[in-house]
Amino acid sequence: MTDTAQQDPRETSDPGEPTEQPDPNEQPDPTGQLEPTEQPEPEQPEPGEATERPLRAGEAVLLIDGKGRRYLVTLQPGAEFHSHTGFIRHEELIGRPEGISVRANRSGTFLVLRPTLAEYVLKMPRGAQVIYPKDLGPILMLADIFPGARVLESGIGSGALSMTLLRAGAEVHGYELRPDFAARARKNVASFLGDGALDHYHVSERDCYDGIDLTGLDRVVLDLPEPWQVVRHAEAALRPGGILVAYTPSIIQASRLRDELEGSAFGFAGTLEVLQRTWHVEGQAVRPDHRMVAHTGFLTHARLLGS
Ligand SMILES: C[S@@+](CC[C@H](N)C(=O)[O-])C[C@H]1O[C@@H](n2cnc3c(N)ncnc32)[C@H](O)[C@@H]1O
Repeated sequence: MTDTAQQDPRETSDPGEPTEQPDPNEQPDPTGQLEPTEQPEPEQPEPGEATERPLRAGEAVLLIDGKGRRYLVTLQPGAEFHSHTGFIRHEELIGRPEGISVRANRSGTFLVLRPTLAEYVLKMPRGAQVIYPKDLGPILMLADIFPGARVLESGIGSGALSMTLLRAGAEVHGYELRPDFAARARKNVASFLGDGALDHYHVSERDCYDGIDLTGLDRVVLDLPEPWQVVRHAEAALRPGGILVAYTPSIIQASRLRDELEGSAFGFAGTLEVLQRTWHVEGQAVRPDHRMVAHTGFLTHARLLGS
């Protein structure tokens, strides 16, 4: 990337560093246990199978303290969760139902819940910066993701978008430049969705600007510094009626992409950003919250027209 105006504001100087992005939900992990170690992958319920099942070793759970602070912990026999209120043995949770409250040995009670996808994305171990839940939902709609959709995703980074596409039922082909990010994304996908999800997740370590080695795709979804370099490749790889969606942190990138789409076989192009403002609702005190994440990125979408 040559133009600093196209710099991804989500990137820290070292993409391997934890994110600097303000995240109102994010809390420090007092245990240092966010890095998963080798452990059994949790079994995921089959579609239609009851999800009311005991917590199992290998599963990620959220421990939520009295102040609403959330800690992501992967349950392991013999392991302990430590905080300033003392410790909780993971064995006290394994085999118990979701929704219980447990006391730490000194003081303090923690509510135990499985994380939602949005909660997991905000707390999971990251290589590259993730797309936030407020944009992940709209991407599913703009790209019109459906069960069985053949999707090319690039780059895959930490896998937040991948797990969103996979959970919506897509068959995801991921192109990622960096082997360490590819490995991290696969770990995150398996950790949240189970090993079975990897059957639908085909990651290649390759440069998406060099081309797309697939045809008849339903969707191309991009989170890359220079998505305009992929437009010609997407024209050849998508079926007529297929959809391209690109997330770009800067409007300069979105504008450059729109210029490239203008001279291509794509039509019905659009660009938008999603603003999310939370409210303080307490008795008569009802007003917007003072702080919000004011900007994340722009979503550009277009449809491949028939020849
Ligand atoms: C911001 S991250 C993607 C984050 C991802 N969307 C998520 O939600 O976790 C951008 C990724 O694109 C990858 N990348 C950059 N240029 C690429 C290229 N030409 N081909 C493939 N991957 C590329 C980077 O290595 C990085 O992992």
